Amino acid sequence: MKQSHSGIRSILTATFLITLVTLGFSAPAFSQDCVQKRSTPKAPDSIAKLENPLQATPENTSAGQELFNHTAKPLACIQCHGINGNGHGMMARGMEPKPRDFTCSAMMSQIPDGQLFWIIKNGSQGTGMMAYKALEENQIWQLILHIRHLGK
Ligand code: HEC
Repeated sequence: MKQSHSGIRSILTATFLITLVTLGFSAPAFSQDCVQKRSTPKAPDSIAKLENPLQATPENTSAGQELFNHTAKPLACIQCHGINGNGHGMMARGMEPKPRDFTCSAMMSQIPDGQLFWIIKNGSQGTGMMAYKALEENQIWQLILHIRHLGK
């Protein structure tokens, strides 16, 4: 009787320790897990250092949202990046490389506005990310406001 009790106790202790160790190791790893391998070309330095000239007013962010969800041509961004910007849009299935996950703050905080601008304008050749040549500069900056908003 005594023995089976201590058996149970040591199983419980072991389970508890394993849980602690798993949580301890997986929690920090998990927050980095979303970081994607980016194959996008690097913007020239002069462009990469540009900052968004627009204020995040309700008008600008909702204009960005409208473009992102509906009106950007040739194809609305949500088709690939998803309505929440997590990269799981309808067309993203099986796509390699995968659409950027804008909700991954560990990754997005490392990508400057000017880089986002460059890729939206010019695309990433050989991937699903097309060039949006018809957008005005202001519209690209509005899209970037929306993308940053999705990451919050
Ligand atoms: C047909 C699918 C598709 C559509 C539509 C699409 N994207 Fe992408 N997007 C991708 C893929 C795939 C990547 C990853 C490309 C790579 O890693 O080379 C990407 C990457 C990006 C990046 C990351 C740039 C970087 O350097 O990391 C930004 C910003 C972006 N897209 C913005 C947009 C915006 C804004 C729209 C709409 C105006 C849009 N995308 C529409 C597929 C798409």
